[in-house]
Amino acid sequence: MSVIENSKVTVVGAGSVGSSVAYAALIRGSARHIALYDINTAKVEAEVLDLAHGTQFTGTSDIIGGSDISVAAGSHVVVITAGAKQNPGQSRIELAGVNAGIMRKMMPQLLEVAPNAVYVIVTNPCDVLTVLSTEETGLPPERLFASGTVLDTSRLRWKLGQRAGVAASSVHAYIIGEHGDTEFPLWSQTTIGTVPILDWETEGHPKMTADELDSISVDVRDAAYKVIQGKGATNYAIGLSSARIIEAILNDENAVLPVSTVLKDFHGIDGVALSVPSIVNASGAFPIRGTQFSPGELGLLRRSADALREVAASLR
Ligand code: LAC
Repeated sequence: MSVIENSKVTVVGAGSVGSSVAYAALIRGSARHIALYDINTAKVEAEVLDLAHGTQFTGTSDIIGGSDISVAAGSHVVVITAGAKQNPGQSRIELAGVNAGIMRKMMPQLLEVAPNAVYVIVTNPCDVLTVLSTEETGLPPERLFASGTVLDTSRLRWKLGQRAGVAASSVHAYIIGEHGDTEFPLWSQTTIGTVPILDWETEGHPKMTADELDSISVDVRDAAYKVIQGKGATNYAIGLSSARIIEAILNDENAVLPVSTVLKDFHGIDGVALSVPSIVNASGAFPIRGTQFSPGELGLLRRSADALREVAASLR
């Protein structure tokens, strides 16, 4: 349980993502108080009841919620999941126009009731919504960031762990850049335990080739399309990744997570929100300037930045 007394997180949006964030936070005990907010009264009340009915089997977290924005009052963290979701075959970027409009309306209302919270944007395209909301609210970049590629990184570690025959938690790898089609793995810094990825080899787990790594990164990049094709949405893994981010904030952990903040003179990149390894604590998220990139990786990061800059510009 968090180092903040009576810690409170509000999850905005009671769709499949928001409800899964609340569920993951509840069973992990990520915060003392969890609130769920949605404009759809019947839906949010039903989700809250369903979650509350299970609290005999969880820790000391409690859950409240409703369609009155005052449920968010006093939050230390606000996680935003509200908005249109991807349909099969649709990219995250295609949601930019409609979800930017929703954010524009919602952020001032949330800031009124939770003026001191750290804001985490999960709604897609999360990088674009982060830069626009940061500009519109005037919040410092550390206090408004996106879940970014924390989930994609978990997907990558799972896949590499399976292939290498080790626990995902022993794979040291990051997906960075856009949470979307231009994201990429920071292969130059990837190790399993201490062993560089291309050198890893154990009984039954032969060395990986560069081509194999390429194909793993494509699978990770396109993972959400695959899940959406089969079940219409992704929800469990984003729920767990968001709960992990909530904990890093509420526990003041200084955890290194690839969240997406508006970058300022980060290896020459400015004014665009992108995921890079960042320190996450009770004050928010801080990109790690000492992160090393190969020249090729820096090129890919700039390509991601250019793509996102263009989308954000079209919405200002
Ligand atoms: C995904 C959604 C959350 O990657 O963008 O599953």
